[in-house]
Amino acid sequence: MKVTVLGAAGGIGQALSLLLKTQLPAGSELSLYDVAPVVPGVAVDLSHIPTDVQVAGFGADDLAAALANADIVIIPAGMPRKPGMDRADLFAVNAGIIKTLAEGIVANCPKALVGIITNPVNGTVPIVAEVFKKAGTYEANRVFGVTTLDVIRSETFIAELKGLSTSDIKVPVIGGHSGTTILPLLSQVEGVEFSQAEIDALTPRIQNAGTEVVNAKAGGGSATLSMGAAAARFCMSLVKGLQGEDVIDYAYVDGNTADADFFAQPIRLGKNGIEEYLPYGELSAYEENAKNEMLATLNKDIQEGIDFMA
Ligand SMILES: NC(=O)c1ccc[n+]([C@@H]2O[C@H](COP(=O)([O-])OP(=O)(O)OC[C@H]3O[C@@H](n4cnc5c(N)ncnc54)[C@H](O)[C@@H]3O)[C@@H](O)[C@H]2O)c1
Repeated sequence: MKVTVLGAAGGIGQALSLLLKTQLPAGSELSLYDVAPVVPGVAVDLSHIPTDVQVAGFGADDLAAALANADIVIIPAGMPRKPGMDRADLFAVNAGIIKTLAEGIVANCPKALVGIITNPVNGTVPIVAEVFKKAGTYEANRVFGVTTLDVIRSETFIAELKGLSTSDIKVPVIGGHSGTTILPLLSQVEGVEFSQAEIDALTPRIQNAGTEVVNAKAGGGSATLSMGAAAARFCMSLVKGLQGEDVIDYAYVDGNTADADFFAQPIRLGKNGIEEYLPYGELSAYEENAKNEMLATLNKDIQEGIDFMA
């Protein structure tokens, strides 16, 4: 198993790489790429941790070597938010970065599973899909926007609110990955009932949790440690799928739902990435309304990605 992290020297990239060094199966290769000159040092640092995962660092000119024969590529490269910004403000900078990196994947590992963390996810995932389509290498079952942070935040906040263990809570989160496009399906959390007041408070808290971190870091960036944990969890779902395990997870994918061309939904993972697109089930009236109200924003975000490539 070879996993490549693009943007590995950043806040998310370093946290994610640390977790992958300790969690990937024995015999795996972990390949770290970044344009920041510190990346070989990050690789040397991680290489001193005693696990059977080989780590190598690749600088700005070595994208091809970093990506060669990768099974999985995770991308946290790009600018994070500062207070007062929303994720859409990042598009101008990050769209170009994502396009370049997607072109590198086409040239060096067109069969890899690709997880995109770079914001705005609603628009960067369509850019990757368009790059792959232009090259004739697009397979929708291999491209994922990583929305796991929305899932783990939901688990944490609900456990806190209800005095439960996080390990007992599973929360479906559908839609996209910004503001109101993030829709936690509280009606589907097994074994937990919410009052309308709780739903009215919890839903926007989950949607705006990223801003809690941005404001608390006061100009120092956005979520990196929780995102590293979320990305590692999603990457391990991809790894287990590739190893033949039957895994169900959530991601923002080209799933052909009636809702939008890209939509976060449940998927069954396996040896080819997505083996099956699963229905998200019945929504409460509150959730149905929230879903219908978000679609204009989500579709505009998707179109922005497609227009960038046109
Ligand atoms: N999907 C999510 O839930 C989620 C959550 C938090 C942050 N993010 C996003 O993740 C991205 C990274 O956040 P961060 O806090 O790690 O930022 P950061 O600034 O700490 O790290 C970004 C890294 O990307 C590198 N980089 C820039 N251009 C590159 C290129 N062309 N090739 C390779 N590397 C390149 C930088 O050198 C830097 O090391 C941001 O866009 C942020 O908005 C997504």
